[in-house]
Amino acid sequence: MTDSNVLDNADRRDFLGKATAALGVAGAATACWPFISSMNPSSDTLEKATTEVDLGGIAVGQSQTVSWGGKPVFVVHRTPEQVAAMKNSQGGKDPQADAERAKNPEWLVVVGVCTHMGCIPSRTEEGWLCPCHGSVYDNSGRIMHGPAPLNLPVPPVKFVSADKIIIGEA
Ligand code: FES
Repeated sequence: MTDSNVLDNADRRDFLGKATAALGVAGAATACWPFISSMNPSSDTLEKATTEVDLGGIAVGQSQTVSWGGKPVFVVHRTPEQVAAMKNSQGGKDPQADAERAKNPEWLVVVGVCTHMGCIPSRTEEGWLCPCHGSVYDNSGRIMHGPAPLNLPVPPVKFVSADKIIIGEA
């Protein structure tokens, strides 16, 4: 084996490594697409979907994420301080009264899909932060900062008892 063959082999290995890495990235992007796409079920699916949630397991100040028609929905048991703060604010660039968003002020139920490009926001003490491009939502799910244009959507919610709701029924 000559020196040039050794170099050729090293170049080949380098090329194969880069090609494999590129395929890996493309594969990951392809794998993500059905997941992201699945976060947007047809309106038909959502119209038929209902999700029952036991509120008894969600302590004051806690939040639970449930699935409704394939979408994540945040169910938040708000503290009295959070309720008072939200009552006194109209939100940011998509103004809306908290009373229009939370039928029962103690409970906020919002679809957990960022209105910018569909990422799932992370819970913070002040509301949510979308990790993709930094959109900030308050404890009423209203957009306060960042590129997202609209508030987190409020799904139809029926309070069937003190500790049970049905998402998807009004
Ligand atoms: S997808 Fe949430 S800020 Fe861009």
